Amino acid sequence: MAKLDVLHYPNSVLRKKCEAIDVIDDDVVQLAHDMLETMYVDKGIGLAAPQVGVSRRLIVLDIGDGPLMLVNPKIVAAEGSDTMEEGCLCLPGINVEVERSARVRVSGLDLAGKELDIDADDLLARALQHEIDHLSGTLIIDKVSKLKRDLLIKKYKKAQQP
Ligand code: NI
Repeated sequence: MAKLDVLHYPNSVLRKKCEAIDVIDDDVVQLAHDMLETMYVDKGIGLAAPQVGVSRRLIVLDIGDGPLMLVNPKIVAAEGSDTMEEGCLCLPGINVEVERSARVRVSGLDLAGKELDIDADDLLARALQHEIDHLSGTLIIDKVSKLKRDLLIKKYKKAQQP
């Protein structure tokens, strides 16, 4: 496994809609394991492929009970709502209160190509929604009002300056 570089906002790859993975080949499996390593080293609880510059539908997560790697993940049902502070490895130093569904059902494939259905709540539901958002180019700063977003971007840009 290798640690990969995580892209930072405003890198344009983070804004692209990712392509579905048709074949889970060795490259995809390798990428998933490298993403997992990267996530652990950078102390995240989830990572999506575009965050390491690959515009494909692959996410990895570990909220503390073991790794989860999902190909072509999709939210198939959602209910309730919940607000919690989130960060993102692509936006270092930024924390935002984000409203999301409280419970979700996510379908996808594991690395062996087997179909998975995951019923999630609490932190796992939140992390899944956050990572799946990345696959359509959506970041946490997009989940707040324009006024709030402008302030956050200003703060972020200021913090990025040497
Ligand atoms: Ni993120």
